[in-house]
Amino acid sequence: MTDLTSTLETISRTRTGATVEFRGLQRSFGATTALDGLDLTVEPGELVALLGPSGCGKTTALRTLAGFERPDSGTLLVDGEDITGVPAHRRDVGMVFQSYSLFPHLTAIDNVAFGLRMSGVGKAARRARSAELLELVGLPQHAGRFPHQLSGGQQQRIALARALALRPRVLLLDEPLSALDAQVRLTLREEIRRLQQQLGITTLFVTHDQEEALSMADRVAVMRAGRLEQCAPPAELYEHPATAFVAEFVGVMSRIPARSGADDGTVDALGRTLPVHGRLPGAAEVAGGTGEVDVLVRPEAIEVTADGKGTSRIVGATFLGATTRLTVRLTDGGEVMTDVPTHAMATLPVGAPVTLTLPDRPVLVDRHRRGNSGRDGS
Ligand SMILES: Nc1ncnc2c1ncn2[C@@H]1O[C@H](COP(=O)(O)OP(=O)(O)O)[C@@H](O)[C@H]1O
Ligand SMILES: [Mg+2]
Repeated sequence: MTDLTSTLETISRTRTGATVEFRGLQRSFGATTALDGLDLTVEPGELVALLGPSGCGKTTALRTLAGFERPDSGTLLVDGEDITGVPAHRRDVGMVFQSYSLFPHLTAIDNVAFGLRMSGVGKAARRARSAELLELVGLPQHAGRFPHQLSGGQQQRIALARALALRPRVLLLDEPLSALDAQVRLTLREEIRRLQQQLGITTLFVTHDQEEALSMADRVAVMRAGRLEQCAPPAELYEHPATAFVAEFVGVMSRIPARSGADDGTVDALGRTLPVHGRLPGAAEVAGGTGEVDVLVRPEAIEVTADGKGTSRIVGATFLGATTRLTVRLTDGGEVMTDVPTHAMATLPVGAPVTLTLPDRPVLVDRHRRGNSGRDGS
């Protein structure tokens, strides 16, 4: 442990985290727009998770920052320096990919030393530095193994060591855990985070797994169709999603049929008039100008009360452990998903008439989607 601590000190002493800025980054492949004006600033030493559906431009964003891809327009800044035209090998960026990209004919230590050799670092210094990094990722005893003699998790540790060998200013991780077993994924998630914090290295971590993003990142950047939708700390993203897209991508949302009134910024839902958070959908998006919209609320924020005179009815219950997820059919036939503490289920059997109450605070509103209450974000 003392060895490791001193190793960490040696490594971190040589570097402080850099600021990374994407400015109006644009990149198309033929008819496909991969990046559509991406703006994002990552603070020194911060871990930002890029989260978004497949094809939204996450990998392209990392590859342009690493210098493997040229943007059509826009600017990349590292510590204020424009690196848009700088070739990849001079960018000072380390990258780890989803699939193990180790050189199969090189041992673990030679894989880690590869970049050092390319940069002309002498043999003794190479050896010392690579050994230091193997120590750092907890695999000093596997220095002589070839990639096929290592597990997936061990290979990703070696890939991480290799990416850090040249003391990059920025670390880029493109779904580094996606190919691993669930248990290994959890362990490595924590290890990467600890290492990143100890080194203080500015890190961009791409994932399509919301739980991974929320559990690891200082801030989560949700991307959609080549643009940034919202970037915020995990709890803020969950509690105050800026848009319906973020709300439904991060966590679970119930959709409740509602009616937008006159242009006074309120909606009527479940017998309540509530202010709208953010933007009301435009008139063109509201079904046939009827004012029909959906209000988006977290399932646990909806209060369910057993009520003999209630006009809504519980039609389904799924046990989730501490909570139970209820499907409630509304008077007008729509269905709403709500989460209640499991201990409250004694008074809320399937078939029971109930009243649903929304929290008294501004709500997100989206255009009405038929036959659709609550959906999984991923
Ligand atoms: N080299 C390429 N040639 C053609 N299309 C590409 C290329 N790279 C990415 N794309 C397209 O650009 C879009 C964004 O891709 P990508 O950045 O890989 O998304 P993500 O990593 O979020 O899944 C996708 O539609 C993808 O098919
Ligand atoms: Mg990708």
